[in-house]
Amino acid sequence: MLLKLKIFRFDPEKDEKPYYQTFEVEADPMDRLLDCLNRIRWEQDPTLSFRMSCGHGVCGSDGMRINGICGLACQKLVRSFKEEVLIQPLPVFHVVKDLVVDLGSFFEKYQSVKPYLINLVPPPDRERIQFPEQHQAFEEAIRCILCACCTASCPVNQSQETEGYVGPAALVRAFRYLFDSRDEASEERIGLLDHKDGAWGCQTQWKCTEVCPKEIPVTKQIGQIKKRIYENRHPKG
Ligand code: SF4
Ligand code: FES
Repeated sequence: MLLKLKIFRFDPEKDEKPYYQTFEVEADPMDRLLDCLNRIRWEQDPTLSFRMSCGHGVCGSDGMRINGICGLACQKLVRSFKEEVLIQPLPVFHVVKDLVVDLGSFFEKYQSVKPYLINLVPPPDRERIQFPEQHQAFEEAIRCILCACCTASCPVNQSQETEGYVGPAALVRAFRYLFDSRDEASEERIGLLDHKDGAWGCQTQWKCTEVCPKEIPVTKQIGQIKKRIYENRHPKG
């Protein structure tokens, strides 16, 4: 089938303002959108810029806005589109060139939640023991590939008045360690999250959950963080 891709273009070194360019690609219905973008770059316009690496929903680098919804180009099959697809960079972030955005602020916020295990007890010879039911508590959060689709889709992150909000991706990672039985920094983690730009910045609008390519229940996990903070403030008995 013949697919038209209407693509956002902007090269700050030579363009005064962004514009859209339409390319036509002969594609198999089972091709992925990423295959079409690659074909454009290889056969029609080598200056088209976008990120990609694994091609299989693992690296999280090809997040973009596809027909208005953030997702991974490598997970979208051509057969799911009609004649034309609109492709734009992820919103929220500054455009570096075409579909490439600057994710510096995204990773700064991610770092702010201390995305690593904190346990000062020296590790035993083999491993820190964890039972399957303890692992299940945060298993879904491990699937996060940091594609930034959730943060880019979040209406709170999209608003300039709340741009300090840490965002859903960072909160998923915070959840992952807050609910890990091997982690010993829950007090410190709760302190990092218990403010208006932390977990309380979430307005429960569910956009993050709708777009997550790894089907992580993002909003639900943020709700569990809020509950944990509340319980910490109001201990029973
Ligand atoms: Fe991407 Fe989902 Fe992780 Fe958000 S939670 S960064 S949408 S994989
Ligand atoms: Fe790696 Fe799409 S190219 S997730």
